[in-house]
Amino acid sequence: MEQQAIPSWFPNQIGEKPVALQETVVGCPFLSDNPGSASDTDSRCCYTQQDNNSGTVCVDQGGGLPGAAVQDAVVVITGASSGLGKECARVFHAAGARLVLCGRDAARLQQVVQELTASSAGTQRQTYAPSTVIFDLADTDTVDRAAEEILKCYGQVDVLINNAGISYRGNILDTHLSVQRDVMETNYFGPIALTQALLPSMVRRRSGHIVVISSVQGKIAIPYRSAYAASKHATQAYFDCLRAEIERYGIPVTVISPGYIRTNLSLNAVTGDGSKYGVLDKTTALGWDPRDVAQAVLRAVRQKSKDVVLAGPLPTVAIYLRTLWPALFFKLMSSRDSQGEETER
Ligand SMILES: NC(=O)c1ccc[n+]([C@@H]2O[C@H](COP(=O)([O-])OP(=O)(O)OC[C@H]3O[C@@H](n4cnc5c(N)ncnc54)[C@H](OP(=O)(O)O)[C@@H]3O)[C@@H](O)[C@H]2O)c1
Repeated sequence: MEQQAIPSWFPNQIGEKPVALQETVVGCPFLSDNPGSASDTDSRCCYTQQDNNSGTVCVDQGGGLPGAAVQDAVVVITGASSGLGKECARVFHAAGARLVLCGRDAARLQQVVQELTASSAGTQRQTYAPSTVIFDLADTDTVDRAAEEILKCYGQVDVLINNAGISYRGNILDTHLSVQRDVMETNYFGPIALTQALLPSMVRRRSGHIVVISSVQGKIAIPYRSAYAASKHATQAYFDCLRAEIERYGIPVTVISPGYIRTNLSLNAVTGDGSKYGVLDKTTALGWDPRDVAQAVLRAVRQKSKDVVLAGPLPTVAIYLRTLWPALFFKLMSSRDSQGEETER
């Protein structure tokens, strides 16, 4: 969110302790050299940290008991060939997880496997060579077969990280309905199909953990992102329902909503006619380091967090505004549009 869209009287730096969340906030992964350490996981506060150009606020609501084991756990990561998924593969591999890496491109996934295997040479912790399963999440008919293949790797899944996704840039007037559907297939129907295919085996074992990488845009909608924001809002709603339904089986659900991350997401985004956007947006280039976000994911799994928002102060304020003062939020979104910010969308 651009600063000039905010009235001058509006606070541009949220305080260290957002009052409404104070009761339920636990820990911040970005300040720890040793994520998951006892002192770190025990802290119950909200931290702020300066990033490149603005303060960053990590808000983590409703965590469970700290310290869920990752060593030897079977962790499935979709979209592991690049960006955040690849960094998640690195941190979970280093933590001793038995990985099943998923994506559409076998060669790129194999490259990740080789990098991870090479990185573990000489480390003392027991690590495992990752397995790979190749499938297209947008083709939900193939997801059941992929889930069977995933289960065959180690006989069970302990943590499913629904990370793969695609973004979108365009205005609604010029966007084909088929593009809206395609983004929904990859970002919403694919992850829920995979989750539903793997869930029965978790319920039978009364064990497992479902994680989904949503976005700040799963909580607020900004102009020129309709397909993406809609898919992430749907994701948030589905996994909130799922959390409530499967808590009784001891299976936590974690929704992680980051702001911009420095990955290829905008380069790979689709436009209104389905063609590739192909631009590395400034907001993305200045975003979070994906290694830090991957540490946050590891941390959220260890803490069995329910809802994690990794956002700077302006998006954080915007999330509150959307609920507490929607008229102002809508005005700000319209003014963002009228200021010609379509170029950076
Ligand atoms: N970057 C950001 O600013 C940002 C901010 C908030 C949330 N996120 C979320 O973070 C997640 C990871 O994105 P990223 O930033 O790391 O982007 P990325 O570098 O473009 O990675 C996207 C990954 O998703 C996979 N993927 C895309 N379409 C797929 C499909 N149909 N079937 C299977 N895999 C597919 C890609 O694998 P292949 O192309 O190799 O198949 C790739 O590994 C996404 O859910 C995104 O919405 C990103």
